[in-house]
Amino acid sequence: MTSPQMSAQTPVQTQPTLSDFEIVDRRDFSDVTYLLEVRHPLMAKAARPGQFVIVMLHEHGERIPLTIADFDRTRGTITLVIQAVGKTTREMQQVCRVGTTLHALTGPMGEPSHIGASRKVVCVGGGLGVAPVYPQARAHREAGAYVIGIVGFRSKDLVFWEDKFRACCDELIICTDDGSVGLKGNVTVGLKQAIATHADIDEVVAIGPPIMMKACAETTRPHFLKTMVSLNPIMVDGTGMCGGCRVKVGDGIKFACVDGPDFDGHQVDFDDLMVRLKRFADQERAAFERWSETCRGRTASALLATAAAGRGA
Ligand SMILES: Cc1cc2nc3c(=O)[nH]c(=O)nc-3n(C[C@H](O)[C@H](O)[C@H](O)COP(=O)(O)OP(=O)(O)OC[C@H]3O[C@@H](n4cnc5c(N)ncnc54)[C@H](O)[C@@H]3O)c2cc1C
Ligand code: FES
Repeated sequence: MTSPQMSAQTPVQTQPTLSDFEIVDRRDFSDVTYLLEVRHPLMAKAARPGQFVIVMLHEHGERIPLTIADFDRTRGTITLVIQAVGKTTREMQQVCRVGTTLHALTGPMGEPSHIGASRKVVCVGGGLGVAPVYPQARAHREAGAYVIGIVGFRSKDLVFWEDKFRACCDELIICTDDGSVGLKGNVTVGLKQAIATHADIDEVVAIGPPIMMKACAETTRPHFLKTMVSLNPIMVDGTGMCGGCRVKVGDGIKFACVDGPDFDGHQVDFDDLMVRLKRFADQERAAFERWSETCRGRTASALLATAAAGRGA
C-alpha cells in the first residue's frame, strides 16, 4: 500500500487575493457544461498537463477538484471546464460570471502527465474528458509526437474545442452517439479505427467517465498498447492525507491526488472506482435539495420584493 504523502511538487499560492481568482471569461457549451477562465499568473506558470486544482466557490463552500483544462502563461490564466452535476457545480454555474472571483484555488495538484517518450499518441476524450485531454494532446505535439485526437459527444450541438484540437492534432476523429457529425458511436469506434489504420501507436491517453475509460482500456488491451487514464475519485484534501481518493491499481492501493491522477488503464479496477464514486449519493442528493430550496426561497423573495417595489411599497 502506498503511504500517504505530500505531492513532490508543492502547490503554490493558496492565499486568496481579490485579483488573483478573478473570472476573466466564461463560455457556456451547453445547458450543463461551462468554461471559466480564471486569472492566476502563478498557477498558469506552474501548471503542467494532467494536473488539477481544488476550488472553493465561497468561504463555506466545499472543496472540489477540477482539471486544469488549459493554461495561458502570457495572459496569466488557467481554464476550467465544468459539468454541472450537483450542488457546488450548479451553484458555480449560477454565480460565476466575468468579474466575480472564486474564494480559493489551490494547486497545481497531482503528478504531471509523462510527455516526450512516445512518438505516436492517440488522445481520446469522451464528453467532459475532451477538455482535460486537450493539454495532453498539445504537449505531446509540442514534444514532437504525431497526435491523433479522438473526441466523443452525444450530438453535434454539444461539440466544443474542435478548432483547438485541429490546431494540435495531426488527425482528428469526432464521434457522436447519434451520428450527427463524424463517426456514429462512442469513442471506442474512433479508437478501433485509429488502431486499424496505424500499426505504430506508442500510447493511448483516454480521459472521460470511468465507464468510457474502462471501454478504451479493454479496446487497447488485446493490442498490448500502453493506455493511460486520468482517474476522478472523490477527493477531500488533495494532499494524500485523508485516503478518500484511494483507487485499486494492479495489486496495490494508490492515492489519486498524489500518485495520479494518471494511471495505467490496464491495471485500474474501474468497477471499484464506480462503486466508490456513488458512496455519498444520498448526502449529495440531500445537499442539492437543501440548496435548491434556498434558491427557490431567494428567487421568491426577490420576486416579492420586485412586485412590492412595482406597487410602490
Ligand atoms: C482529479 C479530478 C479532476 C476533476 N476534473 C473535473 C473537471 O475538470 N470538470 C468537472 O466538471 N468535474 C471534474 N471532476 C469531478 C468534480 O470534482 C465533481 O463533479 C464535483 O466535485 C461534484 O461536486 P457537486 O457538489 O457539484 O456534486 P455532488 O452532488 O456533490 O456530486 C456529484 C458526483 O460528483 C462526484 N464528486 C462529488 N464530490 C466530489 C469530490 N470532492 N471530488 C471528486 N468527485 C466528487 C461524485 O461522483 C458524485 O456522485 C474532477 C474530479 C477529480 C477527482
Ligand atoms: S488522500 Fe487524496 S484526497 Fe485525500
